[in-house]
Amino acid sequence: MRVLRSAGSGPALDRLEAIGRTRLATVPTPLLPAPGLASHLRTRARISIKADDCTGLGLGGNKVRKLEYELDPARLQGVSHLVTAGGPHSNHCRVTAAAAARLGLGCTLVVNGEPEDPGRGNARLHRLLGARIVTVGDRAERGPAMEDEANRIAAAGGKALVVPIGASTARGALGYVHAVAEMHKQLGSDHAPPWIFTSSSSGGTLAGLILGCAILDWRARLVAVSADEPAATIRKTATGLAVAAARLPGREPDPQKDPGGADPGAGRGDMDLADRVRETADAVTVTDRFGGAGYGIPTPEGEEATRLFGARAGVILDPVYTAKAAAALVARLRDGTISAGDHAVFLHTGGHPALFR
Ligand SMILES: Cc1ncc(COP(=O)(O)O)c(C=O)c1O
Repeated sequence: MRVLRSAGSGPALDRLEAIGRTRLATVPTPLLPAPGLASHLRTRARISIKADDCTGLGLGGNKVRKLEYELDPARLQGVSHLVTAGGPHSNHCRVTAAAAARLGLGCTLVVNGEPEDPGRGNARLHRLLGARIVTVGDRAERGPAMEDEANRIAAAGGKALVVPIGASTARGALGYVHAVAEMHKQLGSDHAPPWIFTSSSSGGTLAGLILGCAILDWRARLVAVSADEPAATIRKTATGLAVAAARLPGREPDPQKDPGGADPGAGRGDMDLADRVRETADAVTVTDRFGGAGYGIPTPEGEEATRLFGARAGVILDPVYTAKAAAALVARLRDGTISAGDHAVFLHTGGHPALFR
């Protein structure tokens, strides 16, 4: 990304517009107050929900914003199919299949393992969205199977774009810079920076939140709650992705408008920003204490948080990701880490189909 010198300003974010993006998400997503939840928890902190479960495409969720940058129009030139991979109930696969359908492309999903019931949850939606499903035995076979599929498509005269698993790349992370900018605007600059709680797994969403906060020089207190990975892995991956995203090249200088090459940072990335990103990443809290027995296995705290968010805020959580992140938020409200005068924002990253597996 080109040099981003001014903090919190329009120009800094305008630079992001230089990077190719296909609009897929219904944004800005709303920031919804949850006063009933706050009063039930007897906290004088404010609680809001950033409703990224409402990003729209294919039932929404965090993957939509990430895909917008993966599906840069320049990368889509001549492409006939999208190919990606994930588990049999992958949210990322669902949204990629929906993007392919919306863009008039074919889609192959390489999934590791058979769903117990392909007529339920995301497995059902993968099929409803018209994707071809290639099943492999385990995770290690997914990469080679995606390559095989791209070769098969090429042999038939088409062209595949292979979307990395989870769209958790430096490009994908840029989607969450926009989410930060939205929250910054929605909260207004009069208030102290909020706490922002998010579920985290492959680190892409967190990377974008880190980069967004660094660009805006916004001291929001980010808390990433692991759905599966050790906290140290998430921190390392997210920091690496955020630094790489900060260095993505932007628009080349326009010799007409900028004959002397007056903007030496153009197209070369920005060391200052990378430093700010590292500083922001160091301040993030990453916890793996709410994952329970592992990926997708519900926890009592997550189930309680799901009931609370449902009955006291009208917000539906999923059992794999958001329930566990919400449990962490509830715990921090109860132990007084977040207290009167604080504002806690829960980033709802979606995943609802897991309720119906
Ligand atoms: C619903 C939901 N929430 C959160 C996450 C975690 O996001 P990330 O992989 O970017 O850390 C995922 C990723 O699979 C997801 O599907």
